Amino acid sequence: MKRIAVFTSGGDAPGMNACIRAVVRGAVYHGVEVYGIRRGYSGMIAGDIFQMSSHSVSNIVQRGGTILKSARSKEFMTPEGRRKAYDKLQEHGIEGLVAIGGNGTFTGAMTFNNEYGIPTVGAPGTIDNDLYGTDYTIGFDTAVNTALDAIDRIRDTASSHDRVFFIEVMGRDSGYIAIQSGIGGGAELVMVPEVLTPITEVVETLRQGWSRSKASSIVVVAEGEEEGGAAEIADKIKSQIAEDIDMRVTTLGHTQRGGSPSAYDRILASRLGLGALEGLLAGQKNVMAGIINNELVYTPFEDTIRLPKPINEDLLRMVKILSI
Ligand code: F6P
Repeated sequence: MKRIAVFTSGGDAPGMNACIRAVVRGAVYHGVEVYGIRRGYSGMIAGDIFQMSSHSVSNIVQRGGTILKSARSKEFMTPEGRRKAYDKLQEHGIEGLVAIGGNGTFTGAMTFNNEYGIPTVGAPGTIDNDLYGTDYTIGFDTAVNTALDAIDRIRDTASSHDRVFFIEVMGRDSGYIAIQSGIGGGAELVMVPEVLTPITEVVETLRQGWSRSKASSIVVVAEGEEEGGAAEIADKIKSQIAEDIDMRVTTLGHTQRGGSPSAYDRILASRLGLGALEGLLAGQKNVMAGIINNELVYTPFEDTIRLPKPINEDLLRMVKILSI
């Protein structure tokens, strides 16, 4: 393989730049020409493809976001869109791809490979940590620490004013950020999409705290929670209790997606970027590079897309015990 390209797609995540850097510098080290594609599959279709060098990735290891920009492309989901993308890659002589992103990115890459045979290796980049085939995804650790910092600050106000705070963290289909930031932030309760927590149980937990003279509480809610977002859950609780409790809702939103990556994310992203590149050069295709038990592994896209990555329910049990 003489010429490859790298792109980021889907939601940005802190550490994507460190991953791009590892792909580019790894390619230079192995004597392979490397191109960047801007805005993921949209840029592939538009032909926004440019040659990169070692210098193109100077001074980015510490930066959040992605220098290659990112997008979610509807056009790539159509056969016409993928045809255009293939033509543009052909024009530039691209023989293989490193795709940094999540499930949507790998679904696109798998379909594309099946149709046009362009080998692709993925690196898991999403703050949600919801990808089977790796213990952690790029950006998750930073997002958890960002959420934790916010929870710590909110706890000061919760405690000063004797309030219950419902804090909504990201995680469309996944409770990983909620669980880790909830444990780290000493939350009284964590609500995640994977496990149903009925409103009655939330009320019960809060009441148990009040009966023990607990004056303030923090409930961390993953955005994809079945009972609704934090605001909806707070409304439901207000309508079910007679007690006059001061409640507030804070949605952390996209603050969790940005910012300088943690040391953990920079190292993880560097390992996964180089691992994806070297896998591609060694003939891997349609697989995602991941780290499991500190070892580099490759998992077929089919499995990363199809198989769920269950949360550790023992951690939820721990939240209950530790909030007593
Ligand atoms: O997948 C990452 C994520 O941050 C989810 O947690 C969230 O639901 C979604 O992306 C938000 O996407 P957007 O930035 O497109 O609104």
